[in-house]
Amino acid sequence: MAPTFDDGNSLFDFVVKDGNGVKGLVDSGITKVPERFIQPPSERIEKVVQSSKDHFASVPIDLSKLDGPDHDQVVEAIVRAAETLGFFQVINHGVSFDLLESLKNAAQRFFAQPADAKAVYLKRVSPSPFVKYGTSFAPEQEKALEWKDFVSMVYTNDGDAQQHWPKVCKEEALEYLKLSSKMVRRLLEILIGNLGVTLDDSRLESLIGNKIVNMNFYPICPNPELTIGVGRHSDMSILTVLLQDNVGGLYVKLEEDILDGRKEEWMEIPPIPGALVINAGDSLQILSNGRYKSAEHGVRTTSKKSRISIPVFNLPRPTEKIGPLPHVAEVDGGAVYREVMFQEYMSNHVGHAHEGKKSLDFVKVKAN
Ligand code: OGA
Ligand code: NI
Repeated sequence: MAPTFDDGNSLFDFVVKDGNGVKGLVDSGITKVPERFIQPPSERIEKVVQSSKDHFASVPIDLSKLDGPDHDQVVEAIVRAAETLGFFQVINHGVSFDLLESLKNAAQRFFAQPADAKAVYLKRVSPSPFVKYGTSFAPEQEKALEWKDFVSMVYTNDGDAQQHWPKVCKEEALEYLKLSSKMVRRLLEILIGNLGVTLDDSRLESLIGNKIVNMNFYPICPNPELTIGVGRHSDMSILTVLLQDNVGGLYVKLEEDILDGRKEEWMEIPPIPGALVINAGDSLQILSNGRYKSAEHGVRTTSKKSRISIPVFNLPRPTEKIGPLPHVAEVDGGAVYREVMFQEYMSNHVGHAHEGKKSLDFVKVKAN
């Protein structure tokens, strides 16, 4: 029987505290979105433009060509994408098509479990600091909740992952993390190299050595126009790799310089079978003194089908200092961000509701 939520608190308890998630709410048979999920118009993703077929967001970059005569063009395509939209897609990235399929199935298996099997990983009760299951981004802080459930798995080493990550999805998640990490390392070398800087192995590893795999589940939504799957935000990472299924819904906000005076517009990053989505995060924007764009993005919900996405966040180690690379700041005539330890940046970011790219203000050097 559909539960009756006579007040906002019992709904919050059911979805957030008891771990039923948005999925539990939808499975209970609701036919309209509860008040608590209704976003103010300013938070919805409305003015959307389809990316044209020949736009680089819809034409994946073939990474196998890095090893052939087209090497320079591929490097240029990667750099240009990171400098403009902050998002691009890649194929021949080293993660097999079969693994991508099994990974989506693994995520489906995780969320298909009864609520109490998932609820063991809720914040504060999870038996392990490496796994967290939940809903929305910061439910306690948010006026309107996101239409999304997730499980987050922090990587420290193989032993911890094998021991603590959920059995139903750990093998696939671990394999994905490992294979995609090789590609991320290569992309980072290209992007840093383009800035005229060479970093040694240990610095490169420290910049992306803190890895988290998330599995996101966006249930069918009866009133998609009123809700959001993920609110507008930028990632804290250096680079994020994301696998999405064929449903679609990931949108990037076009920056003012692309828009040329037009109002806010959002462009879809369309699903491409076998491709992975790559985006630059705040840490890369900071490191590059603003040359690479950590794009603001978000997810729309749909009434047609539930959606799965699986990002890997490649983050700096907590004690790593993040600031503009000295050579780049010098060429640019000054650093536009101050240097902070990554864990300071992280503590400022989490615990707040999603607020677009506001997180970067924390390190912005104020103009006199
Ligand atoms: C995220 C995110 C996008 C998606 O988890 O940070 O932006 O398509 N996800 O699920
Ligand atoms: Ni994101």
